[in-house]
Amino acid sequence: MPSDTLSYSQKVSEAAAFVREQTPTIPRVAIILGTGLGNLATHISPELTLPYAEIPHFPQSTALSHHGQLVIGTLEDVPVIAMQGRFHLYEGYPVMEAVLPVYVMQQLGAEILVVSNASGGVNPKYNGGDIMIMNSHINLMFRKHQALANDELIPPGSEQPGTLLYDRELIELALRTGRKEDWAIHEGCYVSLTGPNYETRSEYRMVRAIGGDVVGMSTVPEVLTAHSLNMRVLALSAVTNVAKPDALTETSAEEVVDIARLAEPKLTAIVTDLLKTL
Ligand code: HPA
Repeated sequence: MPSDTLSYSQKVSEAAAFVREQTPTIPRVAIILGTGLGNLATHISPELTLPYAEIPHFPQSTALSHHGQLVIGTLEDVPVIAMQGRFHLYEGYPVMEAVLPVYVMQQLGAEILVVSNASGGVNPKYNGGDIMIMNSHINLMFRKHQALANDELIPPGSEQPGTLLYDRELIELALRTGRKEDWAIHEGCYVSLTGPNYETRSEYRMVRAIGGDVVGMSTVPEVLTAHSLNMRVLALSAVTNVAKPDALTETSAEEVVDIARLAEPKLTAIVTDLLKTL
């Protein structure tokens, strides 16, 4: 059937069926790897790697350092599905396209979403290379998430996204890894802006003033989707640049990618420790 005559749920089902035809693995955990963090996927013993271009109805990934493929396999003997590369609203995707893979991964069986991103720190206690576990967010993307306003895709009995989006037990597990390894690890609030530009000094000041600890351009649409599907959510932010609005230096995409790569082993340790508990 031509794709423009299919409903959204039919597209999700077709994409999931396509993946299912190629592997019997039922993933328990979905992982979205953000900027500079795609290498975590190399720790997965892969059973199947699928470029997004081959999966029906998947959008294509264009952002710097994003590979654009799904990896299915096992990590710490737990079946997982990882997105190496995600879809940002600043690339021009409508929200529902950007979050389609989350629906697909949940339909394939994933009950937990682990999502990572690179962010700019505005909390003066943070340093580049630190990890912040998201315990809250402020959504300044101002884009309507149609499915959350119309319950076609929300399973019966699930809650509308509300206040407790981030799973407390998963936050504690992640903090425990950080303390055990003796890194600077924080929990805090992620402010999402649509981007694509990094913030002006005034915007960094605003992010701090409204209660943010870090700012970034992703993650919130995926978290809202996963929560509406009753998935447990762990969101990890690698703090790259730290904004000091009164002595601001230029933030560059290359710097963000380089520092995110330095933080990558920390994210890998958090995710592998978490999987060992499942
Ligand atoms: N702003 C927004 N997104 C980001 C930043 C930033 O300073 N650093 C990494 N991602």
